[in-house]
Amino acid sequence: MRTTARELAAKAIEMTKAAYAPYSRFHVGAAVLAASGKGDVGANVENASYGAAICAERNAIAAAVLAGERKLKAIAVAGGKDGVIADFCAPCGICRQVMREFADPKTFKIYLAKSPTVYRTFTLEELLPESFGPESL
Ligand code: THU
Repeated sequence: MRTTARELAAKAIEMTKAAYAPYSRFHVGAAVLAASGKGDVGANVENASYGAAICAERNAIAAAVLAGERKLKAIAVAGGKDGVIADFCAPCGICRQVMREFADPKTFKIYLAKSPTVYRTFTLEELLPESFGPESL
């Protein structure tokens, strides 16, 4: 069955509940779809040494890669203070670069979800123009 943007958005929103974010109190969830049709999820995991925090997107992508995926098609992201999703949550620069490793920037879709039906859609190329990737080496 084809995974829809709506399903990915719903998973990302659900995953905000799994966030470990006692320092920022900003809870983020992410759901990634691989070319195989399988998906993985993640949430942000913070640390008392603040710089050691890992974003939801990178945790979801790492889970997919560890499951054997190498080509990703899309990701949905949702987040907000104390888990209240009041706005669209855009991926940070490091996460955009990590997406780039496993994505075609022209076709990879990023859904910024406020609810399963209210989301903004971007390609990776839109959020990370003129990017550096594996083919650049
Ligand atoms: N965060 C994410 O997980 N993803 C984003 O796209 C933006 C920021 C996390 C990192 C940190 O735990 C908290 O949100 C506040 O920056």
